[in-house]
Amino acid sequence: MHIDIITVVPELLESPFAHSIMKRAQEKGLLMVQTHNLRKWAINKHMQVDDYQFGGGAGMVLMPEPLANAIDELQKNRKYDQIIYMTPDGARFNQQAANQLSLQENLLIICGHYKGIDERIREQYITMEISVGDYVLSGGELAAAIVVDAIGRLIPGVLNDETSALFDSFQDNLLAPPVYTRPADFRGSKVPEILTQGDPKKVEDWRFEQSLQRTKERRPDLLDE
Ligand code: ADE
Repeated sequence: MHIDIITVVPELLESPFAHSIMKRAQEKGLLMVQTHNLRKWAINKHMQVDDYQFGGGAGMVLMPEPLANAIDELQKNRKYDQIIYMTPDGARFNQQAANQLSLQENLLIICGHYKGIDERIREQYITMEISVGDYVLSGGELAAAIVVDAIGRLIPGVLNDETSALFDSFQDNLLAPPVYTRPADFRGSKVPEILTQGDPKKVEDWRFEQSLQRTKERRPDLLDE
């Protein structure tokens, strides 16, 4: 999968993909993430990409011209399955959306900054708008990092044990069961016996029960879906 990201702060996206699973995914050639500084398409020598909003009010807006030129240029090299705008008024991101996006070949993600992007870009170019939650971030970069991480780990071959993503929280609308590692007795608190007895069927049943109980207690809304 190839993901292009347009941003005015590319530095914010350096670390999230340079370590751990996302790094490995790129080294294996399964995921390619490329950030593009919007200032490359600035309208003047002052590197301007934003301006005051018509009608007045605090906060700058990313201008349509640099964004349109950036997208047009990138589209010459690639046909995008989705052109995504990260915005708090987008559709709330969840595991189902991550699953669907992980099947795509080419994605383009636009990060807003300040007050957002000119509405005409949303109308003319954007095919999908994503929010990572009901709160406002300073820009779309951290939100984009969340989305790319959630998608990237689902690409077949990215995780070592391919089946492990199947048992993540939210797959099947259930939260994940509790997990334990050594020691079996930590300061007097013992690991549930079933996990140390070596009966895979019993372990599976226990985990399912725990998942169900946890979901009922913490996220009953998931069971209604
Ligand atoms: N940009 C600012 N806040 C955001 C959010 N909650 N989700 C996605 N993009 C954003």
